[in-house]
Amino acid sequence: MGDIKIPEIDMVNLKDQYLKIKNQVDSAIVEICENTQFIKGPAVSRFERNLEQYLNVKHVIGCANGTDALQIALMALDLSPGDEVIVPAFTYVATAEVIALLHLKPIMVDVDPHTFNISLKNLEQVISQKTKVIVPVHLFGQCSDMESVMAFADNHKLFVIEDNAQAIGSDYSFSDGSTAKSGTIGHIGCTSFFPSKNLGCYGDGGAIFTNDDVLAQKIRMIANHGQIKKYHHAVIGCNSRLDTIQAAILDIKLKYLDKYSKARQEVAANYDKALNGVDGISIPERCEKSTHVFHQYTLTISGGKRNDIITHLKDIGIPTGVYYPIPLYEQDAFCHYQPDGFKLTATEELCKSVISLPIHTEMSKEEQEYIIEGVKFFFN
Ligand SMILES: Cc1ncc(COP(=O)(O)O)c(C=O)c1O
Repeated sequence: MGDIKIPEIDMVNLKDQYLKIKNQVDSAIVEICENTQFIKGPAVSRFERNLEQYLNVKHVIGCANGTDALQIALMALDLSPGDEVIVPAFTYVATAEVIALLHLKPIMVDVDPHTFNISLKNLEQVISQKTKVIVPVHLFGQCSDMESVMAFADNHKLFVIEDNAQAIGSDYSFSDGSTAKSGTIGHIGCTSFFPSKNLGCYGDGGAIFTNDDVLAQKIRMIANHGQIKKYHHAVIGCNSRLDTIQAAILDIKLKYLDKYSKARQEVAANYDKALNGVDGISIPERCEKSTHVFHQYTLTISGGKRNDIITHLKDIGIPTGVYYPIPLYEQDAFCHYQPDGFKLTATEELCKSVISLPIHTEMSKEEQEYIIEGVKFFFN
């Protein structure tokens, strides 16, 4: 690595991003502290309307976090205990957790080994009379093959809930040439505003999207204690609100979302250029029909060297992430949903070979160069 100066590198750099919008954020927070509209203040509906416009979707309903968004979406579909929900096994736990929590059955399926998104290959084999929902996860920042997902769902009369926690801002192109924002194609879309997400707030937050007026009304009701009017509760719901201060911050950051995506795409393009063709590394493949907003830049490492490269990078000051190290069906909480010995080929392989490099909106050329050199050094 020669005499390269070691820059301080983080997986994400929220501080520098904040400093660029500090004046706007600080005054929005002060305004809410002064008017004390902490719960359901005007910033919440202002942000919901602005996000509806950005996404070109009829309804955006804020809620407390991305996990609640998925739970509330499922609660709105009038499912019965034991109904089955198809979900990729290579995802964050929240996607499957809410299914189990509602006494539904997660049916775990494999992902495409190159795009990391749900594979449609063997779906026919898992369909039963009880299958009611499919939850494609737009992993790492690009859309699943939504045209095929929707066709499959239509054929089998399934609801589609998009887990868009990692892909907000990405665009999907249909074969007729039309486009739609990720999260607005299925019956319901869900997202997370966790701080490190592409559109992240300064605490917890989430939202649910739908073009269906009836579902939107139900979702709003469920997120508010199942209340139809004050102190009248039509169904069992929950208390899941997007906090006013978080909504005000998100409304400011929404104006920069496309710029943030572009910054991430530029880092990814630099990584691609430098690492494509390096023996032992596969750069992330792009889905044909989706833009990629790079929540994560994820390589696969062959030859069983993934853990060695993590150690090497750590030693030279480069943090990395492994999303995700264990297939969901091997987690103690989920193993009883599948028969003994259940394995999915791509999921197994990816859990052993993926590594995510630092990527965020504030990365300097110097940091990128240092990371690239660090990775290449290992393979030389
Ligand atoms: C794919 C996916 N789904 C759901 C969630 C849950 O979001 P939250 O942490 O806001 O509950 C996350 C967050 O990490 C996620 O990455």
